[in-house]
Amino acid sequence: MKDFKRRIEYFFLGLRDKSGIPFKPEKEINKLGLKEGQKILDYGCGIGSYTFPAAKNVGKKGKVYALDKQPLVIEKIEKRAKREGFSNIDTILSDRDTGLVDESIDVILLYGVLPEIEDKKSLLRELHRVLKPNGYLSTRFCFRIKKEELLEIIGRSNLFDLREQKGHILNFSKKKIKN
Ligand SMILES: C[S@@+](CC[C@H](N)C(=O)[O-])C[C@H]1O[C@@H](n2cnc3c(N)ncnc32)[C@H](O)[C@@H]1O
Repeated sequence: MKDFKRRIEYFFLGLRDKSGIPFKPEKEINKLGLKEGQKILDYGCGIGSYTFPAAKNVGKKGKVYALDKQPLVIEKIEKRAKREGFSNIDTILSDRDTGLVDESIDVILLYGVLPEIEDKKSLLRELHRVLKPNGYLSTRFCFRIKKEELLEIIGRSNLFDLREQKGHILNFSKKKIKN
């Protein structure tokens, strides 16, 4: 049943991506101004709505790590990446740990997934670990999570500071943590 629900959700994400209603992920990602050669982590990537546009933006010298806990979508992304010749996408099947090197990621996309995470603090700690000191964590508010909730959850972690807002996107800088 859970799997069935997930498939329906992915079907609707596909419709959103094609129709642009209520928004087009490709346009959203373009607001970030990603640069060639950057390394991106798309956490909770779903069907890859942001993964593929981000991979186009960072080019062959860049890399997009597409992480999700659902083998179904990881397989889908791998097949599409192969079919469309994206050599700069690596997939990660996980429900929290990324296995990435400390401070190796320029931008983390955390879109549409936070409401589904039980232990948000542990996930934010992992994201803080892999983010470069001058990198940023990008989130997006929507009908499932309001701007105030996002600010509250991320603020409470004490790991990130609000850096900027671009439409529905809130970007957070990495806080320096004193040991
Ligand atoms: C609503 S979809 C959003 C997909 C994509 N980011 C987007 O905005 O189009 C949420 C995705 O997060 C994934 N997810 C939920 N909890 C997760 C976790 N703990 N770790 C990794 N992925 C998770 C789900 O499997 C699902 O694919």
